[in-house]
Amino acid sequence: MSTTEQESRIVIQGIEIALACPDQLTFQWIGQREVLEQLLAAWLLIDAADIPLSPRLVGKPGVGKTTLAYAAAKAINRDVYIYQCTMDTRPEDLLITPVIDRSGGIRYVASSLVTAMIRGQVCILDEGNRMAEKSWASLAPLLDSRRYIESLSQA
Ligand SMILES: Nc1ncnc2c1ncn2[C@@H]1O[C@H](COP(=O)(O)OP(=O)(O)OP(=O)(O)O)[C@@H](O)[C@H]1O
Ligand SMILES: [Mg+2]
Repeated sequence: MSTTEQESRIVIQGIEIALACPDQLTFQWIGQREVLEQLLAAWLLIDAADIPLSPRLVGKPGVGKTTLAYAAAKAINRDVYIYQCTMDTRPEDLLITPVIDRSGGIRYVASSLVTAMIRGQVCILDEGNRMAEKSWASLAPLLDSRRYIESLSQA
């Protein structure tokens, strides 16, 4: 079953959380097989203890970084969640945002990053170089073997 057909909300410790929708892009990766295979190799799992790496793609503007990340995720049949980073992205923006719903109650909405984590899919932190050090620091445990994100209350 495609994850797009899954429930768009989950319940964690009694709290309902709305999940993001995956991004659907129409473009395809043309040529440059080697760089695509390098990225796929970073996600390769051989031993049960292996965890996928989180590679950082660097290159000149327009060289195809975002397209490559999307194409690699699709090559292994993963949904892709694109988080558009800016210099204003705060650590809490990367997590779960409480919003007031129509009835005046609080609704919790997961970021595309948290949705990808929950669903075991791929998140592209697009334009990640713009993001401040504090926000990157909050992702440190996610990007190493710990696999969680620091929330504000822990910071
Ligand atoms: N190998 C490729 N196959 C198909 N399209 C490509 C390829 N390389 C680049 N493109 C196309 O070039 C354009 C720019 O690519 P993309 O946005 O992925 O670059 P980028 O490196 O992420 O740019 P930026 O640094 O501005 O974020 C897009 O229209 C993309 O589809
Ligand atoms: Mg890009």
